[in-house]
Amino acid sequence: MRVPLIAGNWKMNKTPQEAIQLINELKGLIQNTAAEVAVCPTFVALSDVLKAVEGSSLKVGAQNMYHQDKGAFTGEISPVFLKAMNIEYVILGHSERRQYFGETNEEINKKLAAAFTHNIKPILCVGETLEQREQGITFEVIKEQVQKCLANMHQFDLEELVVAYEPVWAIGTGRTATKEDANEVIAFIRQQLKEVLNEKLSLNIRILYGGSVKSSNIRELMDMPEIDGALVGGASLDVQEFAKIACY
Ligand code: PGA
Repeated sequence: MRVPLIAGNWKMNKTPQEAIQLINELKGLIQNTAAEVAVCPTFVALSDVLKAVEGSSLKVGAQNMYHQDKGAFTGEISPVFLKAMNIEYVILGHSERRQYFGETNEEINKKLAAAFTHNIKPILCVGETLEQREQGITFEVIKEQVQKCLANMHQFDLEELVVAYEPVWAIGTGRTATKEDANEVIAFIRQQLKEVLNEKLSLNIRILYGGSVKSSNIRELMDMPEIDGALVGGASLDVQEFAKIACY
């Protein structure tokens, strides 16, 4: 049974004070959801958000991390620090990290290994750009991302891996993939997980859709058989809207 996961990716938004306020309101609004609900604030708000979620079922994730445990890596955050704080999830390979900060599949592969080593559940993001979709190479791009990011992972227990299919052209654009397109690519990702990992894992790993998810389209997305949840950007910053999504 794949428990649905609705995760809010706040990106570079919300001061610690704003974050606490949002969590305090959100807690009261999502008591009846059947989904697991997570929020991913900025690093500087993690500590306050962890305190604010105490006593609720809300989970907390980071938006990135470095693959090394410690050392001379100015400005980076170690998986050891996240684990020490009891952070449950970490988003890895988000398209904004790939696009603006030059992250490669090889680097994301190292970060995934570090997350598994420290028992932090990774949310691995994959997705094609508009140009790639128009060239008809969506499946090749996704296949390469899945295969390279998940290379040499056999020593780890991968049950806790989450994958998010986020077509780059749908992120922050208001343009959502159709439910059929999202379902088709997610089914393809599951097939890739079967090839790279094994069948059992491919059936147990949750695969989310991300890209302009809103309260008005979450239901139809969640009704698709392959879609196990959503990674929500812009709409997760509005507490009422995010609560509606979480309680789809
Ligand atoms: P969006 O972002 O919901 O604002 O499109 C999704 C994401 O980047 O995770």
